[in-house]
Parts: sequence; C-alpha cells; structure tokens
Amino acid sequence: MIDLGVNIDHVATLREARKGHAPDLLTAAKICELAGAQQITVHLRQDRRHIQDHDVELLSQALTVRLNLEMAAVDEIIAIAHRIRPHTVCLVPENRSEITTEGGLDVAGQRAHLKKVVAGFNEAGVKVSMFIDPELRQVDASAAVGADYVELHTGAYANAKQEDVVNELNRLVDAATHAIGCGLIFNAGHGLTVRNLRPVASIPGLNEVNIGHDIIARAVFIGLENAVKEILAVLQSCSP
Ligand code: PXP
Repeated sequence: MIDLGVNIDHVATLREARKGHAPDLLTAAKICELAGAQQITVHLRQDRRHIQDHDVELLSQALTVRLNLEMAAVDEIIAIAHRIRPHTVCLVPENRSEITTEGGLDVAGQRAHLKKVVAGFNEAGVKVSMFIDPELRQVDASAAVGADYVELHTGAYANAKQEDVVNELNRLVDAATHAIGCGLIFNAGHGLTVRNLRPVASIPGLNEVNIGHDIIARAVFIGLENAVKEILAVLQSCSP
C-alpha cells in the first residue's frame, strides 16, 4: 500500500487568520488518523505563518501515526527538530515571500552543508527526506549526502498544460527509477489532487505521497474524513 501523509498546514492557516484556537489542529490530525492516513505532515516555517512550535510539540506527543516535519535546513529549525525528534524530516527550500514551497531543494549546490545536517539527524535516529525536483543530478546528490528518501516535487506535473503532462510524468518516472537504483526510497508530493493523483500513484516503487491543499479544500465541502478517504481509495487502487 502507498502511504498517505496528510499535510495539515492549511488547517493552521485558517486558525492563524484569527490568531485563535479554531479550527483545532490536533482534532484535524486525529480525524486524518482515524480516516486511515499513515502520517501527518507539517511545515514549521521560519516565518511561522501557519504551524507554530507548540503545534509540532503537541503532535509529536499525541499522534499514533508518524509525524513528518518539513523544514528548511537552517540552525534554528534544525535545533527544534532535534529536540522534538519526529519520525522523519523532509528538507525543503524556503523563501519568505513565496505562497507555497516553489521549487525543489538544490541538494547538488549545498552538498557539504546537507551532509552534516543528514549525519546529525541520522545520529539522532531521525530519517531524512530531500524534497527535490525530478532531476537526476539532484537524486545523485541526495544519495551522496546520505538521505534515506527523496520526495519528488510533483508541482510541475500538477500545473502542466495538457500537452506537457506526459512529459512531466516521464520526468517523474525517470527520477523515481534512478532514485530506487541509488537505494533511495521514493515519495512524491505537491499539487496532487484526487483528480491528478492516479498517474503518479501508478509509478512503480512509490512509497508515500504527501497531500495538503486539495484535501483541506475538499474538506470544506465533503468533510475531512471523506476527503482523506477518497485519496486513500485512489492509492489503494494503485497499490501493487
Ligand atoms: N510535500 C512538500 C515537501 C511540501 O512542501 C508541500 C507543501 O507544503 C506538500 C508536500 C503538499 O503540497 P500540497 O499542499 O500542494 O498538497
């Protein structure tokens, strides 16, 4: 079965719109858990625009499924991750003015720094994923710095014009095949929806997808439990 990580950042975005307590993040996480998600994903951004430090703390104590922390590889957030010790960290690029994570991490361009960061997490028993564009050199660099996983950025596929979709899908397939050949576990995420998921979920060797915006957007109309379940149904039908 391909695992589902539900990214609940947007529940926190709604809460932060009023700086109050509703909607409650832990309740959202528990509904995802009960609906069958195997993981909760949150991105603790340096600007704290949605997820707050206490959210990560609380989730790490209260979840029965895995916690995946998306983060920039900067000292402040690395120190928090070492204190909380989620099951996995997914290293992402972060740019203060972006609406969402725009591109993949340039692992090839910062090998020495990332090698140290990965080694530190490995010593602490935390597995590390690299959120990268589907480029072979970024896959090679991820293997070289000692990552356990790559999460291939599916944004270009999700946003592609109809005539470019097959090409973008092929880039994902090539990068995934290469990643598996390098001994990496292959995950995928960004811009995936209940409508565009199937071709990605059919890529051989896919371990996990992380989906946020579409699930939370669908939840407004059909409820969070149903929104998670409809994604799980697609994953189940594509699982080997
Ligand atoms: N994976 C990573 C590494 C991300 O940065 C994001 C966005 O925060 C997602 C998955 C989820 O993307 P979306 O909200 O478009 O489903």
